[in-house]
Amino acid sequence: MKRSIWVSALIIGSCLAKAQAYTPLDIKGTSLYFIFADSFGGPPVEQGLGPCSTTRGSVDFQGWCNGTIKGITNQLDYIQGMGFEGIWITPVIKQFYGPDPDGRSGYGSSGYWAYNWNEIDPNFGTEADLVELSAELHSRGMVFVYDIVLNHVGPIHSTADLEQLVPFNKEEYFHTRGIGSMTFDQYAQGFARGGTRVPPPVQGIGPGAMCIEGPDGCNNYHCPVETGFGDPCPVDPTYLGADAPGPPDIPYCGVGDFVCPGYIEEQTIEGWFASLGDLNHSHPFVHDELLRWGKRLLETYHIDAFRLDTAPYVSKSFLSDFQAEVVVPILGEVTTGNWSFFKSFANKQDGPLKGLLNFYLQNVATPGFCGSFYPGAQLNLSHLGANIEVMLNSGEVDLDLTGNFVDNHDMPRLAVSCNDDMPRMKNAIPCCS
Ligand SMILES: *[C@@H]1O[C@H](CO)[C@@H](O)[C@H](O)[C@H]1NC(C)=O
Ligand SMILES: *[C@@H]1O[C@H](CO)[C@@H](O)[C@H](O)[C@H]1NC(C)=O
Ligand SMILES: *[C@@H]1O[C@H](CO)[C@@H](O)[C@H](O)[C@H]1NC(C)=O
Ligand SMILES: *[C@@H]1O[C@H](CO)[C@@H](O)[C@H](O)[C@H]1NC(C)=O
Repeated sequence: MKRSIWVSALIIGSCLAKAQAYTPLDIKGTSLYFIFADSFGGPPVEQGLGPCSTTRGSVDFQGWCNGTIKGITNQLDYIQGMGFEGIWITPVIKQFYGPDPDGRSGYGSSGYWAYNWNEIDPNFGTEADLVELSAELHSRGMVFVYDIVLNHVGPIHSTADLEQLVPFNKEEYFHTRGIGSMTFDQYAQGFARGGTRVPPPVQGIGPGAMCIEGPDGCNNYHCPVETGFGDPCPVDPTYLGADAPGPPDIPYCGVGDFVCPGYIEEQTIEGWFASLGDLNHSHPFVHDELLRWGKRLLETYHIDAFRLDTAPYVSKSFLSDFQAEVVVPILGEVTTGNWSFFKSFANKQDGPLKGLLNFYLQNVATPGFCGSFYPGAQLNLSHLGANIEVMLNSGEVDLDLTGNFVDNHDMPRLAVSCNDDMPRMKNAIPCCS
């Protein structure tokens, strides 16, 4: 009797301790199944090549494929059965619903267009669903990697849009580089350029950020063939106003692409990612609120690591503060082939983050195996070999926190790059996934 009281007291004690401080699982070296939440585990008919993808782009497309958090939880046997040791899911906080009245922005079904940072999007489910998913994973010994965006919010075209945001609902929370005498409304409206309206100072994305094969690709612009994501497309260095000169169709450099004429690193940090409102982390509210938010996510959902979207568009000092606050590894999306720039985000000595997604290898791996475009590396594995050697010899980044992959949701899937060539895909996947 005494003994059983003692035992139950001990159990209660340890349960309380657990509720207060979850001890994250170690994600080092695990294989992760990446899930685009809106496209997975929805009602059967909407999955895969169902009505969702075939109606995309047509007038009646609702912008949501109706995948849910519960749908993921229901498929954990399947995922674990394939041998995966954890999952990474796209963000599920409340999104911009789109499209905006001018049709300039689509739908936030990707999860990267947050409008309310404190709520789970009802399209995906509830807070309880996410708690349950995490608990189910952990009961299987699987790790939970959750995707976050610290750089930007959803599309912002006016002050009225801004007012709908929670909690970043004021102009002062956003970068307004080059605003001059414009009002925020004018700034967020964007300005006419080459027949389209674009938001003000852009970050390194969009046409020209990557070399695209074909008549409008790199060769047209006399790009030097050097390794590096985004090398070597031209840029418009004074892309700050309606009178900006330069080729209207190729306005951007890739991130970290310092050899791109006119590349401005400050603009990478302070520009907007197309029309997505860019958070100003120098503002004390933005800085502190994001740190609190990160902590809250961890405490509520018992996350083992974060995947960080658009990492190089955020100042390193903020990234360091955030990494220090949450402690669990953050794997940064740094889309560059510039090794020195790439490693600087997760350098063991002084890098702001603990980990990275391995774009440095992916850039040359998929072209090497499949022949997709990359200067010099198409169907040539020497580049992959060389980059692997660079990484192995450097010792500067933690290779167990560097996520290898051959495709993701921002690029053609492997079957497309590989033209359905199964032997090539079978070679590529064990290499890099
Ligand atoms: C998603 O759900 C909404 C609301 O029920 C529905 O209108 C829409 O057609 C669904 N989308 C797909 C792709 O089935
Ligand atoms: C960012 O915020 C700080 C502090 O509020 C401000 O001084 C700075 O001008 C802002 N930067 C931009 C580019 O808007
Ligand atoms: C690569 O990035 C570094 C900064 O980390 C920069 O100094 C260098 O010029 C970049 N190289 C290229 C080819 O863009
Ligand atoms: C493959 O790339 C390497 C490194 O650039 C180069 O030396 C080699 O000639 C290439 N091989 C072929 C067959 O093009």
